Amino acid sequence: MYRALRERRDVRIGYLPQLIDDVTLYRLLTAAHQAPSVGFMQPWRFIVIRSEAVRTAVHGIFQRANTEAAARYQGNRKELYSRLNLEGLLEAPQHLCVVCDDESERGHCLGRNSMPETSIYSVVCAIQNLWLAARTEGIGVGWVSILDPLAVKELLRIPPAAQLVAYLCLGYVEGFAEVPDLERYGWEKRAELAPLIRADYFDQSYAHRDVR
Ligand SMILES: Cc1cc2nc3c(=O)[nH]c(=O)nc-3n(C[C@H](O)[C@H](O)[C@H](O)COP(=O)(O)O)c2cc1C
Repeated sequence: MYRALRERRDVRIGYLPQLIDDVTLYRLLTAAHQAPSVGFMQPWRFIVIRSEAVRTAVHGIFQRANTEAAARYQGNRKELYSRLNLEGLLEAPQHLCVVCDDESERGHCLGRNSMPETSIYSVVCAIQNLWLAARTEGIGVGWVSILDPLAVKELLRIPPAAQLVAYLCLGYVEGFAEVPDLERYGWEKRAELAPLIRADYFDQSYAHRDVR
């Protein structure tokens, strides 16, 4: 478990053309389906995408959003952004769109009366389960959020009340990098854990022994 946590990566390049067979895919989705959920609502819905036409259309949606995103940066950061590889949509032979069905009455709203957003948190738990299970199987996952969610919802015929939570590339890969791509390319590096832990109050630091 700890090894999967450490070696999980977001994969944007190096997807192989081989499709994931249905048995393996079902194993990954079962891992997702075992996630905790508010009120036992299990609000996740999975759309498995293998159609080349759909994958190409989503890539087009990415390109438009990415052009807009790139325009927000300036100078060195802009130049660095343009060199980042932020999706493997055409390379990955299958995609997985993960949707939250907020209209489901499962769970009878337990836990959601005060925090309705916990349905989405539940879906994110399912995605993390799938991501770790995929790593264990040697399958790469790449989360693509540089997308106009309305355009994706329209393309995939997702009902207006449902929420697009994640659009994922999924597939066998050439390998898993040791460090996150964003760190390798100098965009951002992993934060130290210690300052993120507080004691009793948010503004009070946690006196800890250095146990690394
Ligand atoms: C909610 C979410 C959205 C993300 N969206 C993107 C994205 O659009 N493009 C991308 O290249 N990576 C995306 N990522 C991956 C992160 O960049 C990645 O998790 C982070 O750099 C750490 O790398 P690692 O996952 O390999 O440890 C996303 C990750 C999360 C959790």
